[in-house]
Amino acid sequence: MKNDRLAWLQGPGADGAAKCSNVPEERKNPWRLILLGAPGVGKGTQAEFLRERLFACHLSTGDVFRAAGKRNDCDQSPAMKEAMQYMRRGELVPDATVWEMVRERSHCLLHCNGFILDGFPRTLGQAESLKELMEKEKLSLTAVVNYELPLNEIVRRLSGRRTCEKCKAVFHATERPPKVESVCDHCGGRLFQREDDRPESITVRLEAYERSTAPLIQFYKNLGLLLPIIAQGTPDEIAARTMDKLDRLSAGAA
Ligand code: AP5
Repeated sequence: MKNDRLAWLQGPGADGAAKCSNVPEERKNPWRLILLGAPGVGKGTQAEFLRERLFACHLSTGDVFRAAGKRNDCDQSPAMKEAMQYMRRGELVPDATVWEMVRERSHCLLHCNGFILDGFPRTLGQAESLKELMEKEKLSLTAVVNYELPLNEIVRRLSGRRTCEKCKAVFHATERPPKVESVCDHCGGRLFQREDDRPESITVRLEAYERSTAPLIQFYKNLGLLLPIIAQGTPDEIAARTMDKLDRLSAGAA
């Protein structure tokens, strides 16, 4: 599937409607997934693998904030400028700002190809807002995939992450290095280290995860939607593990 994420990343245009050029896949049961897991566990990496296999759109809230942060100062709303401050420190952006941003892109959630949500919801308040929206639209979640990894491995993944400034492809300095140092394999863009991958921000992000996001595991377990996946091994191995569970779920055997 062509990965047109402009409508998601940029939000509504001047005429109030973001344009999406993703071709509808006409699937009977589109996948509507949430990826849960601590920062750095590999959600973004897995979302890209799953997108190719499931034909659903990869929707990351962190990517929306980072894209907004790249705009000119005067093109950023006060709420977005404030969001950037939270993000740099590694703290969660307030629910009201996050929900406003997701709500104005809700057509991406309603797209007939389905979605893979990465980084949202992150608090019980966000999960309740999403549940309400989906109930109103008579849509249901297929599953909530929860990636699990020991803390030392998470910190190693975050500290070595390198991201392409142009196409946003993600590498790892030692585990998934680019062919040429600091240069993206896909588009030749420069690779950089995210501001919130500095040690002091990593600590704040992991605390925020434990406090606000980990309770979502029980929330979705209670709804019978949780699929725990061990996130150790290569990205291919983890993707195969995830697909196996999803296939069994769709065959009614998970
Ligand atoms: P966000 O962008 O969502 O960041 P995150 O959840 O902290 O997750 P990451 O992107 O850091 O990690 P990931 O799990 O996607 O791992 P990745 O695949 O890159 O959010 C950033 C900030 O935005 C938040 O802190 C907050 O301020 C704000 N925000 C966003 N959404 C919000 C919300 N809903 N509410 C409030 N605030 C919000 O992998 C990491 C590294 O590991 C990479 O280098 C990768 O190459 C490597 N790697 C991946 N898999 C493997 C593997 N199997 N083996 C070895 N290396 C691997």
